[in-house]
Amino acid sequence: MADYQDIAVERVESWIEITLKREDKLNALRARTAEEIMSVIGSAEEDPEIGLIILQGAGKAFCTGIDTSEFQVKEGEYFDFYRRRRRSWKVAAMFRELPHVTKPVIAVVEGYALGGGFELALLSDMIVAGKKAMFGLPETRLGIMPGGGGTQTLPRIIGRPLAKELMWTGRRLSADEALAYRLVNHVAPQGEALEKARELARSICESAPLAIMMSKTAVDRGVDATLADGMAQEGDLAYLLYFSEDRNEGLSAFREKRQARFRGK
Ligand code: COA
Repeated sequence: MADYQDIAVERVESWIEITLKREDKLNALRARTAEEIMSVIGSAEEDPEIGLIILQGAGKAFCTGIDTSEFQVKEGEYFDFYRRRRRSWKVAAMFRELPHVTKPVIAVVEGYALGGGFELALLSDMIVAGKKAMFGLPETRLGIMPGGGGTQTLPRIIGRPLAKELMWTGRRLSADEALAYRLVNHVAPQGEALEKARELARSICESAPLAIMMSKTAVDRGVDATLADGMAQEGDLAYLLYFSEDRNEGLSAFREKRQARFRGK
């Protein structure tokens, strides 16, 4: 694996695990972190041996948002900052790109997931939290607002009134509250969220990769579509799978009462 500065990457069974490693900054995201994450995810997308991506943070936080030092605009440099923001605001590019990842992404949250850290987890397909995880959007307390999709992703999961409350008060949710609001799939004892996520990853990787890709697309596109449009898209995506080798393999394996060997083809 390439040498990264802000993250560590490990190949585990049939997935990769990306660990944010800026522990002294509670894994705050800077442009470099985002570039590294997207570079790894880009390679994982191309690699047929990798079925899934796990994203976690080292130390006592998952991620405490965008590195606030990157927000500083020096007196008289507003317009230079504007150009830089347009050209090289890699963190925003990462947030925009993540919904298009075709492989499942599981966020493992131990400790803080605040601001952009929470938004990063929300852009994953699933969240597995440790018992002491804490989720919050403190941006309005800093005179800014969520910019990593939080105003869109959060209300789609927990509804608008509660999303607005969290956004306007900065109140942090505990792991158990997040579970009650269906923000997280599972809560594990503290320090055991990764193991729980791996269990989930193992099970997901036993299913056919193309069927996962198409159903992920159907679910995510369907959220913004009418029921009729969503079902029409589902029909088209399901039809595409008729042309996959894995469809024959899956159905044959079922008939022959054996474990299917999917190849993502
Ligand atoms: N950007 C830049 N640095 C950050 C950061 C962020 N988003 N989050 C944490 N850090 C840094 C702190 O400045 C501190 O650095 P220092 O040791 O050089 O002062 C270091 O990480 C450790 O954080 P600290 O605040 O000392 O830890 P704590 O346990 O007392 O508090 C938090 C933890 C999460 C409550 C607190 O760090 C916090 O509120 N962070 C900002 C969260 C936020 O508002 N995110 C949205 C940003 S848009």
